[in-house]
Amino acid sequence: MPNTIHSPGQVLNAPPRKQAKPPGPCAMVIFGAGGDLTKRLLVPALYNLATTGLLPEHFELIGVDMADLDADKWRDSLHAMMESFVGKAASESRIDKVDEDTWKRLTGHMAYIRGDLNDEGLYQKLKQHIDQPSDTGGNCLFYLAVADRFFGPVVTQIGKAGLFEENWDQDGKAPEHWRRVVIEKPFGHDEASARSLNASILRCAEEHQIYRIDHFLGKETVQNIMALRFANGMFEPIWNRDRIDHVQITVAETVGVESRGRFYEKTGALRDMIPNHVFQLLAMVAMEPPAGFDAHAVRSRKSDVFSAMRTIAPGCAVRGQYGPGPDGVPGYRQEKDVAPDSAIETYVAVQVAIDNWRWAGVPFFIRTGKHMSRRVSEIAIRFKPAPFAPFEDTNVAALPPNWLLLQIQPDEGIALQFEVKRPGPVVDLAAVRMAFKYADWFPKEPNIGYETLIYDVMMGDQTLFNRADMVEETWRVVGAVLDDWTKEKPEGFPNYASGSDGPAEADELLARSGRAWRPVMDKAEGRAEG
Ligand code: BG6
Repeated sequence: MPNTIHSPGQVLNAPPRKQAKPPGPCAMVIFGAGGDLTKRLLVPALYNLATTGLLPEHFELIGVDMADLDADKWRDSLHAMMESFVGKAASESRIDKVDEDTWKRLTGHMAYIRGDLNDEGLYQKLKQHIDQPSDTGGNCLFYLAVADRFFGPVVTQIGKAGLFEENWDQDGKAPEHWRRVVIEKPFGHDEASARSLNASILRCAEEHQIYRIDHFLGKETVQNIMALRFANGMFEPIWNRDRIDHVQITVAETVGVESRGRFYEKTGALRDMIPNHVFQLLAMVAMEPPAGFDAHAVRSRKSDVFSAMRTIAPGCAVRGQYGPGPDGVPGYRQEKDVAPDSAIETYVAVQVAIDNWRWAGVPFFIRTGKHMSRRVSEIAIRFKPAPFAPFEDTNVAALPPNWLLLQIQPDEGIALQFEVKRPGPVVDLAAVRMAFKYADWFPKEPNIGYETLIYDVMMGDQTLFNRADMVEETWRVVGAVLDDWTKEKPEGFPNYASGSDGPAEADELLARSGRAWRPVMDKAEGRAEG
């Protein structure tokens, strides 16, 4: 009998929950073992996998770095980092305590290999270690948690040392063991460099071994877009140019560049966020239904979206840079490692067109920025107005619009905004919001977004990772704007105050077609806005 309880906290008519199985045995080699990404995200994510029983039973963690450490010192430094997350509400890796049994399960089998990433000798030492008989069965995941200039050289050296060999038998049956490599972002800095990086890594490894990671795809609510669209029959008939007026994607952050000034001066908001994180959100909304949920089917449908996206014309892009804010908040040009006359953007808004039957004529407006008024990642789908409203003195064009809001973070959920009659003797309309919040229905699981992705690599599932053609196409889409911004210095920087909603020019981008951004600061949670 299905369980039918009509209240939040209990899912309706749910079949029994599918239990995830732990992956088979493997070793994980982290290049950049002493770095920030390893400490802040990878190790906490592995810890969470151990907590939920999803770490392989036979697992070895191997650190590679220049730092003068050994396995014990490395373990201690990671433990200290985990301790620092205890009870820190603001930390993405927040935990209530470090459970020592779980910690032992994660770090019981550890090695540390010190060396220079450009030195062949390092990879020989690594090979000797990996080739020793062990209960991880020779399966090995290489995680490149290093600066992007090392991606090509490290993959090349792993290849040269013969560490990508899987020994497939002649019939193409499962290999003796698997070898996989995870490559972080930024994957290239434009189309040409992404193509060249792909070419160089594909000389050493095969596409099925390469996992180009985008951590936005590890966020539950991003994956949920596929469930919303393809597990419900009611959305598909209205999910197209006939009923949708336009789509807005907002990824607003309240943090500034913090200690990453040097990185940001070379990168800027466009490269940092748009062709990767934000286009992944866009693809989830815009893709055609895949024939199945295997990696080939899903990635091919997403790739179709990227190919159909028109190269953005510089006139359809706006850049901004934050200036000082209230209470002594420094402007971007006052941040550490930033030039006092920097022309780098910390905010970007673009209008994107998708040239296919589903989306022709439906603009996608995207904006992302640092030091904005509120931290929010949201996809807002605006529907076309009712064709006619038979109410006295009602101007259809003036009715508040219907919105479907996919709230990615921090208040994960889905909301629908529509018109109702206000109580009272006259027909008077008001916009209200019907909201589903994840937190009301499901207990929170320990998750910082990397767990699913690391688990998928161990399981050999590439669905949530980028294929070579996908990264190349996304860089193509932003190429003309990147070129223009490199040549043309921006005018009037800084052009938005820290803690505001971004530069006024971004409003003009929508105003040209009589549209407007939804306010970033949605104080009226649960109450509708225009
Ligand atoms: C990173 C960017 O990839 O994503 C950062 O380099 C950005 O600049 C971050 O702040 C946003 O990720 P999240 O998970 O904090 O929303």
